[in-house]
Amino acid sequence: MKRKFTCTIAVLIFGACAMLYYAVWAQRNAAAFADDSQRRSGFDAAVLQNSLQMVEDGRKIFRFDTFGDESFWGDTLHLHQVLNTLPPSTALALGLKIDSHALSPSLIEAIKQGKVNLGDPAVTRLLIKQNSVLGVVGFFNGNGTLRSVGLTCALCHSTVDDSVAPNIGRRIDGLANRDLNVGAIVATAPNLQPVVDLLKLADAGITVSDVLKVLNSWGPGKFDAELFLDGKATNPQQVTNGVVTGMNVPGATLIPNARGLAGHNLHTWTGGWGTVTYWNAFVAVVEMHGVGTFFDPRFDDAAQFPVAAAAHLGHISVDPDHDQVTGKLPALHFFQLALPALKPRPAIDFDPAAAARGDELFSGKANCNSCHHEPLWTEPGWNQHSADELKIDGFEADRAPGHAYRTMNLAGLFVRERGLFMHPENKGGFYHDGRFKTLLDVANSYNDRFSLGLTDQEKHDLVEYLKSL
Ligand code: HEC
Ligand code: HEC
Repeated sequence: MKRKFTCTIAVLIFGACAMLYYAVWAQRNAAAFADDSQRRSGFDAAVLQNSLQMVEDGRKIFRFDTFGDESFWGDTLHLHQVLNTLPPSTALALGLKIDSHALSPSLIEAIKQGKVNLGDPAVTRLLIKQNSVLGVVGFFNGNGTLRSVGLTCALCHSTVDDSVAPNIGRRIDGLANRDLNVGAIVATAPNLQPVVDLLKLADAGITVSDVLKVLNSWGPGKFDAELFLDGKATNPQQVTNGVVTGMNVPGATLIPNARGLAGHNLHTWTGGWGTVTYWNAFVAVVEMHGVGTFFDPRFDDAAQFPVAAAAHLGHISVDPDHDQVTGKLPALHFFQLALPALKPRPAIDFDPAAAARGDELFSGKANCNSCHHEPLWTEPGWNQHSADELKIDGFEADRAPGHAYRTMNLAGLFVRERGLFMHPENKGGFYHDGRFKTLLDVANSYNDRFSLGLTDQEKHDLVEYLKSL
């Protein structure tokens, strides 16, 4: 009896312990599970938070960061001296754009009513001081005059929607400024000797007047990023489908649209340079003369890059504590990939019925899709082709490490075709040097080069499709 009792007590105690243990275990487990799922959603929240912060930081860098390049544009070339005496009317004629968001309501009203004196250089300085001139960052003396000036990515790679007045409106980041005459602006710099000295590395006889001639030959919406690597100012013979279409054409290329680039492997007009962030580092350090680090041993090839090889432009290095570029590359890259292509409006920007027929041609008879693969509009993978494949001259291709042309993005072509957000005379211009004035010229040329046998109606439909992308 006693034994049976002891046994029951033991079972009861064991059962109670087991239940208690289970309860504690279950509670712990539930707490751990809750903790884990919280942590997991915390990971997701951190990603979201990070992407918002990256876009925010990248936008600021893209718009306002000079990377310390005022030591070149201001302190060395003395461009600020020109800006100190530049009337706004001349600044606007050179293609500089004004962000209305940065202006006070009373100033916007005065502009709308034509009450602002566009002949007064003090107005130019005021606009720069308010951070409203796209891509231009001023450093001021106590008396309101500029003591230096720096440039940002936004100078070439953004424009405005003209909502207040021509050249004045809301910013459009990433859209090329087709009115900006970069060459003419640089040509006004009081001290061009550093540019001459650099180019002398390729051609000892070069003078300031030679450099001025080159800069003034570019025209609006163009820049020659390779000039300071190879010293080649002109394409001796522009050829399309075996026909010479120009002699000694300036080597400058159109400023490309920098929206809708996510998913593209290689970048810029020509092949082999690298990704967006490769080009960002290159431009910030080598072209804009920001204070940073850039490495590319391919520039040591003196046959292809005589200037870059002699000046060791592929080996620029600064102390990490003084580097004003490298730490900004991640956010800048992220922001650029976040810029969506502008969307055309059916029946306004293109004819939907014709575009639907053009869609069939694009991936059918016209064979465009074999390179401009829908919906990326470039090849997923190695997106470049030789000049021979394209049946055009290889001048520009041979200035790049890959000796090739990149299959360009087609999203947002309607902006250029329709001449939106630009002076009417600068509308159109396709291919790297703008050799085709209109999209119909492009379609005609592909038709001839690749013997596509397209009828006039089919070319028209193909153009409407291109405008719909
Ligand atoms: C003086 C005008 C100018 C400035 C300033 C400038 N760019 Fe560019 N950018 C160009 C031109 C011209 C090209 C085409 C170069 C080529 O293909 O040879 C280009 C190409 C690019 C491309 C490749 C786009 C594509 O189609 O894939 C990127 C990305 C880019 N620039 C980023 C930047 C960034 C970031 C900055 C600031 C650090 C900057 N650029 C400053 C003129 C400019
Ligand atoms: C063999 C590959 C290939 C094929 C096929 C091809 N393209 Fe292209 N396309 C390119 C390359 C490469 C470029 C850039 C050329 C340059 O740098 O000047 C380009 C540029 C363009 C441009 C100019 C983009 C700009 O920003 O100026 C348009 C428009 C275009 N192609 C439309 C077409 C159409 C329409 C077809 C079919 C009829 C077609 N392409 C077929 C490779 C191709």
